[in-house]
Amino acid sequence: MTALQTEFANRAASHGHQDMLPHMHQLHQLAQMCRTAVEFGVRTGQSTIAIASGLESGGGGTLRSYDINEPSVEVPKSDTVSWTFERADTAKLELIKPCDLLFIDTLHNSDQVEAELKHSVMVRRYIALHDVYMFAQHGEQGGGIIKPILEFLADNPEWQVMRYYHSEWGLLVLNRVA
Ligand SMILES: C[S@@+](CC[C@H](N)C(=O)[O-])C[C@H]1O[C@@H](n2cnc3c(N)ncnc32)[C@H](O)[C@@H]1O
Repeated sequence: MTALQTEFANRAASHGHQDMLPHMHQLHQLAQMCRTAVEFGVRTGQSTIAIASGLESGGGGTLRSYDINEPSVEVPKSDTVSWTFERADTAKLELIKPCDLLFIDTLHNSDQVEAELKHSVMVRRYIALHDVYMFAQHGEQGGGIIKPILEFLADNPEWQVMRYYHSEWGLLVLNRVA
């Protein structure tokens, strides 16, 4: 087992931040089907490790992560996965580079998610959004996030709901159909 897979197994088993625990394997599996991923929201890197290790299991790739704050994570070196981090407000970011997977988990309110979903034009396969249940109706310092997600789906028929994984927090996966 590589250092990255060991880190993933440890973090998927237990971690101080409980919110990603139910979804670690789901995110890992999604990343296995991808070569390039972008992550919005790092904190202590639960999703970072799930995505990076998933890319590695799938044959390797690149992960670029963004957060408005400096994250607290060490991603173990991998022969096949490269990880880069940039500090930025993802509501104000220039369009990201093309990628297979975009993972969204920053400030959970309607304005933020609406702005972040503008990057969908650069995403080839999947958009995964965390906390869609927790913040569905009432967001953090703003409106809930289910409205901009439903509006996005109505306005962009090339995207559909692929899977919803329920937990106290909730992970929604959209996939591009055209
Ligand atoms: C729930 S945490 C992310 C958890 C992470 N995905 C994980 O699995 O451990 C939310 C993160 O969003 C970041 N954040 C908050 N507002 C932001 C913004 N406007 N732009 C970018 N990142 C932001 C916070 O600094 C925090 O690290």
